[in-house]
Amino acid sequence: MKVLLTGSAGFIGSHVAEALLARGDEVVGVDNFNDYYNPVRKERNLRVACTNKNFTLYRTDLRNYEALETIIKHERPDKICHLAGMAGVRYSLKYPLLYEEVNVKGTQNLLELARLFGIPHFVMASSSSVYGGRTNVPFNEEDRVDFPPHPYAATKRAAELLGYTYSHVFDLKVTALRFFTVYGPRNRPDMAVYLFTNAIDRDVPINLFGDGSARRDWTFVLDTVRGVIASLDRPFNYEIINLGNSNTHTEMDFIRAAEKALGKPALINYLERPASEPLITFADISKARRLLDFEPVTTFEEGYSRFFDWYKSEGREG
Ligand SMILES: NC(=O)c1ccc[n+]([C@@H]2O[C@H](COP(=O)([O-])OP(=O)(O)OC[C@H]3O[C@@H](n4cnc5c(N)ncnc54)[C@H](O)[C@@H]3O)[C@@H](O)[C@H]2O)c1
Repeated sequence: MKVLLTGSAGFIGSHVAEALLARGDEVVGVDNFNDYYNPVRKERNLRVACTNKNFTLYRTDLRNYEALETIIKHERPDKICHLAGMAGVRYSLKYPLLYEEVNVKGTQNLLELARLFGIPHFVMASSSSVYGGRTNVPFNEEDRVDFPPHPYAATKRAAELLGYTYSHVFDLKVTALRFFTVYGPRNRPDMAVYLFTNAIDRDVPINLFGDGSARRDWTFVLDTVRGVIASLDRPFNYEIINLGNSNTHTEMDFIRAAEKALGKPALINYLERPASEPLITFADISKARRLLDFEPVTTFEEGYSRFFDWYKSEGREG
């Protein structure tokens, strides 16, 4: 199988690339190595994939339709796994137009090319953010998600809707995967697990929004990756599927884990929790279990320890 994988240099994308290559698939990576965080990290993420003869990399922007068209015409992939995107919630409040260009227009560019070149199966990354601030848990795919609380969530929901339209009108098989706070080796440095650990490590205060009691359905990256691969193996007409751990921990749990790993206490700067930050995320994963045989297996202790091993060895740099 030949998979066009967007966002292949990113945190989740680079793990998906390695998992596909490990089982003998061909991977055509597309990434623009933007500087939302240090692109040196993205180069490092791809170190292993780049040694594999079945991996080809294009340093291309999703917003460039002609460039994508040239790649797809040349490579003729069997499937598209679309993980590229602008991912930070707070950054989306600063640059909403950029989020629309990349997450909506960029996604439609790919859907359109899938239609024109007869690529029948499209898997894309959506987000638990589309559930907004709801406190009715666990979040189910049937829940109403018409009130995205920030531009990031709105663009992810818009991309899901475009996916529906392309499946309905043009007969593509489209699956949108709603990821829940993914963490692990190669973690994005703007995410809580990284920020907490790095602040304690450098003896600077953690800027904590709220009192640390907010709960997240933290999902270990290799569990998420198994769900992505299962989706690539199982085309459906159109499905939205939660990929979470279905087991929540508080932000304070991660701060305590980081304190223990680093052997020193956190300094905490308590800030008001902005409205864009939900109090809880919690995935109902019964659909993922049913359709994908998805089962997250990594405990919080094991997941944090694997994150921390990476952090010590190379995650501090860059
Ligand atoms: N990490 C999480 O907890 C999480 C949760 C929910 C959803 N997601 C979604 O999963 C996907 C992957 O997230 P991640 O955490 O690996 O983020 P990431 O930022 O590490 O990876 C995204 C990659 O996309 C690339 N990219 C961004 N804009 C691009 C463009 N215009 N053209 C080409 N490439 C571009 C970036 O360079 C980056 O390498 C994203 O779509 C994100 O919205 C992530």
